[in-house]
Amino acid sequence: MSADTDLRARARRVIPGGMWGHLNTSRIAEGYPQFFARGEGAHVWDVNGRRYVDLMCSWGPIILGHRDPVVEAAAQRQAALGDCLNGPAPVLVDLAERLVDRVPAADWAMFQKNGTDATTACVTIARAATERRTILIAHGSYHGSAPWCTPVPLGTTEADRPNQLRFTYNNVASLEAAADAAGADLAGIIITAFRHDNIVDQELPSLAFAQAARRICDAKGATLILDDVRAGFRLHPGGSWEELGVRPDLSAWSKAIANGHALGAVTGRDSLRDGASRVFITGSFWCSAVAMAAALATLDELERRDVVGHITALGETLRAGLEERARAFGVRLRQSGPVAMPLFLFEGDVDFVAGRAFCAAALHAGAYLHPRHNMFLCAAHTEADIATVLDATEAGFRAIRRALVA
Ligand SMILES: Cc1ncc(COP(=O)(O)O)c(C=O)c1O
Repeated sequence: MSADTDLRARARRVIPGGMWGHLNTSRIAEGYPQFFARGEGAHVWDVNGRRYVDLMCSWGPIILGHRDPVVEAAAQRQAALGDCLNGPAPVLVDLAERLVDRVPAADWAMFQKNGTDATTACVTIARAATERRTILIAHGSYHGSAPWCTPVPLGTTEADRPNQLRFTYNNVASLEAAADAAGADLAGIIITAFRHDNIVDQELPSLAFAQAARRICDAKGATLILDDVRAGFRLHPGGSWEELGVRPDLSAWSKAIANGHALGAVTGRDSLRDGASRVFITGSFWCSAVAMAAALATLDELERRDVVGHITALGETLRAGLEERARAFGVRLRQSGPVAMPLFLFEGDVDFVAGRAFCAAALHAGAYLHPRHNMFLCAAHTEADIATVLDATEAGFRAIRRALVA
């Protein structure tokens, strides 16, 4: 019995379903390991000892590479002093200062643990600051797993989601209609950095859409919340909408901010400072100093190594290489979203049979991909890693062609 099989059998006895949520590997593809032994740079090793080029990067948190030496050294220095104290360590202020310095839309910062903490805090602050209730949320956008925003409402009630109106991402008319429906009760609009909804092609926000969100919030005295939890620091070091020139009032961050250490953050403008100081939001571990030291080092390294430039260049190589191979194998592949956060779906593959067969074969050849979730590049990936991934995808394309012929 393999180590992974053994652990799964033990987990089934003591962990409901063997593993919760999207991390249950049965939801990915056949042959995917559930348990990992370690990670280093751009690679992960499963508990059976197999090494993969990692294109999931822990679903986003790894942006410099697994166990980045600079980040880990900073974390260890702080750990030697203390992590969970009676209150914050000085690094709390250092990190808030660094974010205010780096993020043009940030006049202040607060910290949490997860992305859901950060988005929930943003909504709470927006309502407190405006003294209104209604929040506009795009159909299909993921903002976390709390009852107010979970995409799987099992175990929640309608009463967990009052005072919300929906609009269609990138559709100005629908955003305006939702804002009209909210009337004088519009507290805020929460929008992901780009459209990365489950299982559909990704879409970058149009300039007109981002500007409309800003215009509506300005006209109505409402709060524009950018949910930068997934994309944050991968598209632009100062916030994903900086390229568009549209600045949010509040931003939610997590995932990549501390290169794998657990940290969420909310940054905001002065206009929200008072509301943010009055709401009661806290958590036992929200001051943990080690993750903050890791974040401080991560932010510095992101800038020093021009990570956005690096992962964008590698993402372009990956996209072009996949396109070329798809054409050569006669397979219709759709690639979408920012190249550093690639998603590929196969034309007509409604039940993901082709995607799963593709990823299972690529996994066997040494590349850890995902058949329907966007993937993530990191600073530790090299040209050679991308070449390995592209070689591995040839096994995937062959598997699909075999399935089509059969
Ligand atoms: C855009 C976005 N917001 C919020 C979240 C929730 O973050 P977490 O899983 O850390 O609670 C996620 C997680 O994938 C996300 O992608």
